[in-house]
Amino acid sequence: MWFIAEEKERLIGIGILGSDKPGSCAEIVSIFVDRDWRRRGLGGALMQCLEREVRARELQALYVGSNENANAVGFYRSAGFEIVCLMDPSVVWIPGLETTITMAKRL
Ligand SMILES: CC(C)(COP(=O)(O)OP(=O)(O)OC[C@H]1O[C@@H](n2cnc3c(N)ncnc32)[C@H](O)[C@@H]1OP(=O)(O)O)[C@@H](O)C(=O)NCCC(=O)NCCS
Repeated sequence: MWFIAEEKERLIGIGILGSDKPGSCAEIVSIFVDRDWRRRGLGGALMQCLEREVRARELQALYVGSNENANAVGFYRSAGFEIVCLMDPSVVWIPGLETTITMAKRL
């Protein structure tokens, strides 16, 4: 499921929720905000839409696999996420495993 933000019929933000994990958590596949629209609360608003949906599904947590960039980590931290898993740096050379951080939030 996804939520989008538009301005004059132009896509300026998107939040994508993946399928639920058995045992009651949901994955954020991506949240992306157009460069010109960042730091204006749009990412936070998209996050609220995702959290509302996860609560409606009666799931207890949200998690996201993020790369180690300060933008994403700062954003998720400000939304109440914490780092729950760090990949061993000795294996991050494996193609397709660039994601190095898992962050999660209890709802
Ligand atoms: C991460 C991203 C979605 C944030 O969207 P945004 O609309 O700028 O977020 P908001 O304006 O709602 O920011 C909410 C809070 O998050 C934190 N935050 C946002 N961007 C940040 C940054 N670059 N560095 C540190 N903290 C940041 C701040 O605490 C911010 O509150 P403040 O502006 O009052 O200080 C956006 O920067 C983006 O699309 N980045 C590229 C894609 C990406 O990295 N997506 C996440 C991984 S899937």
